[in-house]
Amino acid sequence: MKSSSTIRNDILERLIGGNFCSGETLGRTLGVSRAAISKHIKALQELGLDIYSVTGKGYRLAHEIHLFDKERLLTELPNYRPEQIHLLPVVDSTNDYLKQLLQTEQEVVPGTLCIAEAQTAGRGRQGKRWVSPFGCSLYCSFYWPFDGGFQAVSGLSLAVGLALVSALEGFGAKQLGLKWPNDIYHDNKKVAGILVDVDGQMHGSCHCIIGFGVNLVLPNNIDEISQPWSDLRQIVGHVPDKNALAVAMIQQLNKTMLQFQHDGLKSFIDKWNDYDIYKEQEVALIMGENRIYGVAKGIDQTGAIRLAIKDDTGQTVVRSFFGGEISVRAV
Ligand code: BTN
Repeated sequence: MKSSSTIRNDILERLIGGNFCSGETLGRTLGVSRAAISKHIKALQELGLDIYSVTGKGYRLAHEIHLFDKERLLTELPNYRPEQIHLLPVVDSTNDYLKQLLQTEQEVVPGTLCIAEAQTAGRGRQGKRWVSPFGCSLYCSFYWPFDGGFQAVSGLSLAVGLALVSALEGFGAKQLGLKWPNDIYHDNKKVAGILVDVDGQMHGSCHCIIGFGVNLVLPNNIDEISQPWSDLRQIVGHVPDKNALAVAMIQQLNKTMLQFQHDGLKSFIDKWNDYDIYKEQEVALIMGENRIYGVAKGIDQTGAIRLAIKDDTGQTVVRSFFGGEISVRAV
């Protein structure tokens, strides 16, 4: 018996042509009842696909959608072999998929990717949910191992932020900025987020899963995102070719990983500080209930945020702060 996800993919494949597909024809060709087709269509709509129906005609996609294309990715990424690109219509989380792969496979090659059209349990930083409707964003995770323990990957996510900015600029996105540690912003609105999951030993090898979500064209009525957001359609005036964008980001990430492996964060610091959206601005560092107020002074050698604050004697001193639980806000 076919699984629900196989049937949903089969339905989608038929709808992508842009024609009406009747429930009866879909049911007959896929070997399930019309009632089952209607349930699967509902599930696809819940993933964010805009499918409508007209009596007597059937189901149709409201807008043309473009999917990731594995053949094309393989052609444009000639160093990749098919088993290094896991392309899935729907997954819980691309980071979790790679994590699972690392547990079950003997060998996972550096640079291995998981890319999805939608995530049902997309994860953001600090335990937040990453809203991941179908076909609206690039949801991608990239695997890279490092020697030298956790210390060796300190600040890695900041270098990843720069890699993604550089790829996005190649697609005409101007005036992008970075918000510590690694959110990509445009006009005070978030365009992309990065989540690096690290597994390994204190001093041994570290397995990094670098996940990123880049908003391509989010529905205007999306109300589950709690902060101001933007997408590439707004920034560059059209939706870029997502296969080409994925290729550019993956190429840039491979380059960045080699540079980071060789030099650590050192060679990225000045550039990161150039993109800092809070440079010399009054900010608050938020750590749970605690707030620390000061003037943002960029990042240090470890990727920690530097803040000019008043010490107990009233003197201004610059201190570094680091930790996954810290977030920054303008005041
Ligand atoms: C953040 O800004 O909070 C980080 C968001 C990271 C989202 C991406 S989407 C692909 C990958 N898979 C996940 O579950 N999360 C990351």
